[in-house]
Amino acid sequence: MPIINRIAEFHDEMKSWRRDIHRHPETAFEEVRTSDIVAEKLAEWGIEVHRGLAGTGVVGLLKGQNDSGRKIGLRADMDALHIQELNDFEHKSINDGKMHACGHDGHTTMLLGAAKYLSETRNFDGSVAFIFQPAEENEGGGRVMVEEGLFDLFPVETVFGMHNMPGIPVGQVSMREGPAMAAFDIFEITVEGRGAHAAMPHQGIDPIVIGAQIVGALQTIASRRTEPIDSVVVSVTQFHAGDTWNVIPQTAVIRGTARSFRAETRTQIETDIRRIAEGIASAQDAKASVMYDCRYPAVVNTPAETELAAEVAARVVGGDKVEVGAEPLMGSEDFAYMLQEKPGCYIWLGNGMEGGPGGCSVHNPSYDFNDEISVIGASYWCNLVETALPRQA
Ligand code: NI
Repeated sequence: MPIINRIAEFHDEMKSWRRDIHRHPETAFEEVRTSDIVAEKLAEWGIEVHRGLAGTGVVGLLKGQNDSGRKIGLRADMDALHIQELNDFEHKSINDGKMHACGHDGHTTMLLGAAKYLSETRNFDGSVAFIFQPAEENEGGGRVMVEEGLFDLFPVETVFGMHNMPGIPVGQVSMREGPAMAAFDIFEITVEGRGAHAAMPHQGIDPIVIGAQIVGALQTIASRRTEPIDSVVVSVTQFHAGDTWNVIPQTAVIRGTARSFRAETRTQIETDIRRIAEGIASAQDAKASVMYDCRYPAVVNTPAETELAAEVAARVVGGDKVEVGAEPLMGSEDFAYMLQEKPGCYIWLGNGMEGGPGGCSVHNPSYDFNDEISVIGASYWCNLVETALPRQA
C-alpha cells in the first residue's frame, strides 16, 4: 500500500495548517496559539483532548472500533527556534526573531493529518495517543511531559517519533536500530588565577594561558581517551576572559558541549573534563571549578519497534526507499526521554536534496519544511497504527 488516498485528498488542507503554523512560530513552552489550534482540531474530530502536561502540551486519545486494550503513542513537536527568518515567501514568520527552522510545524501538521484520517476511519482495535509536545529545542519539553505523568495518564506500550531530514530525498525514510542520536551535555570551566599588570606576569597567575592549555588537553578526550570506534565529541564553544590590552585577568570561563552514545562513555567524559581542568590548573597554582550538566540522553531505538517501523515505511514508500542501517547522528533529540520509558522507534523522513525544495539544512534561516512530504509522513503514522493495532476478527 503506498500513500493513503484519503490523506492525499486533504493535502491542500494540511498545507494550509502547516503554513499558518509556520507564519506564527512560538518557542519553548510558549506554544499557546499552536497548542490551541491542535486542541481545537482534535476536538472537532471527536478525539478526547488532554491539555496542560508541560504547560502547552496536548495529548489526543482516540479509540478504535474495538478496545483490545492495546495502546500506541505517536509524538510530534510543536516549538520553533530563536532565528530571524530569511525566507521571503508568503508564509514567512511574522514573529520577529522566531522561526520554524526545524520543521516542527510540519511534524505537528503530519500528526494532525493522521489524527484526522484515523478519526474518520478508526480502522484499528485499541487506542492511539497523539502526543504534541512543547520545547523540543534545548528545554526538554518531552522530559517535562514524562515527569508530569504522560505515561501514567496514557499507558502506551510503545511510542514512535519522526523528524524530517534535508539531504535525504523526498519519498525516502531512514532509521537505525539501537543508538541513533547522541546524548547531549554542557559544561562550564572557571579558571581562577590572579590578576596582574600584563607587563609583570610573574606577579599574577594567568588564567588565559592555563585555559588555553585546558582547551588543548580537552581534545585528548575524544582522540586519546575514547575507544576509536566509540563516537565522542567534546567541543569548546566559548572562551571568555579579560577586558583590555594590558591586564592579565583574574578569571577565564570556558564553555562547551559533549556528545556521546554509551552511558559509561558519558560518565568518563565528565570525569576526564574535571581531571584535565583541575589538574592543569593546580599544576600552575590556579584553581579550576567545573560544572557538568547532563542534558538529553541518547535516542535508542528498540529492535522490534524498528523492524515494525521499517516494515510500515516500506509499505508506504517502497522497500527500496527505506534505509534501515542509517549512520547515527551526533545531534540530539528529547524524544530520547520517551524512549527511556517505552520501547519505540524514531525515524528520519526525507525532506529533499540540497539545492532543491526542502534541501536547506535545519536550523538555517532559509530552511522550510517541504509540504510535499506531509502526505507520506501522515500515511506512515496511519499505517503504523493500523499495523500495530490490527482489527481482530
Ligand atoms: Ni527538530
